[in-house]
Amino acid sequence: MKPKVLVTRKVFPEVTERLAAQFDLTSNDADDILSPSELAARAVGAEGILATLTEKFDAAFLDSCPRLKVISNIATGYNNIDVAACTARGVMVTNTPGVLEDTTADLAFALLLAVARRITEAEAWLRAGEWKKGFALQQMIGRDVHHATLGIIGMGKIGQAIARRARGFDMQILYSNRKRLAAEVEAQLAATHVPREELLARADFVVVMVPYSAETHHLIGARELSLMKADAILVNTARGGVVDDAALIEALRFGRIAGAGLDVFENEPAFNREFLSLKNVVLVPHIGSATLATRMKMASLAADNLTAALTGKMPPTLVNKDVVKR
Ligand code: GLV
Repeated sequence: MKPKVLVTRKVFPEVTERLAAQFDLTSNDADDILSPSELAARAVGAEGILATLTEKFDAAFLDSCPRLKVISNIATGYNNIDVAACTARGVMVTNTPGVLEDTTADLAFALLLAVARRITEAEAWLRAGEWKKGFALQQMIGRDVHHATLGIIGMGKIGQAIARRARGFDMQILYSNRKRLAAEVEAQLAATHVPREELLARADFVVVMVPYSAETHHLIGARELSLMKADAILVNTARGGVVDDAALIEALRFGRIAGAGLDVFENEPAFNREFLSLKNVVLVPHIGSATLATRMKMASLAADNLTAALTGKMPPTLVNKDVVKR
């Protein structure tokens, strides 16, 4: 009998066909969000799950799915999974690093540019028929990105890819990170390590790119926003919850900072609707890695991880490496 595998969302046929050749596949092709009880019901008897960051896997779920050997997340972040509970039960957790960094950095830069140059606001205005005076000197005045100071909070692979793009815009690059980068990497990126508070106080643009965890919950809250310059712009391409969205709305509304570009929100997709009343924000629905080539690579790597785990091989990008030593 083939091992049962649950695919929690609609995935590319190239990938599901490959998995179906080896496994007894159940796929959520309707692509709706599964509630915790639907997820548990569909996962009964599964040995592998090809998952996305929308589904939550906690100890209670794991106890309802005792045959499970692997949760293969189609994402680099894995804060949707209780990794310690998985390790304790011998369940492998895998993610998809190494294939989405440039694509996500492109999106971070797109948001930064869009907020600075008021792209979505200007386009909505044009579409609404408001453009009547031709080239007016003070129309839709934005901010310069070139030669401005960029602060990157979280200088992992994506943060570094953002820094490389910023160099092309002649930006001054500050960064803060738990671990300082090697001197030669800092030199290559022309990036200066500074304490987070100094970064917040000096940067014209602040991009947050840290993984979400208990330590990074509301890393940017009312206090941090109050340290930023009144004309600064915040970009969050990390995870909802890293920024306190209610505090951000308040800061944007009262002009404590100038604008924000957001790809991620607390409580997706039911994000705080007060964002919609603000003009100085650009809001996109968690599309950081959303290009066909990158999403294909992510799904394919996730399938490789799942297949390896269920055929006695080492998954290429295993998160909880201590699970195999047990
Ligand atoms: C997307 O948000 C990811 O973690 O890959």
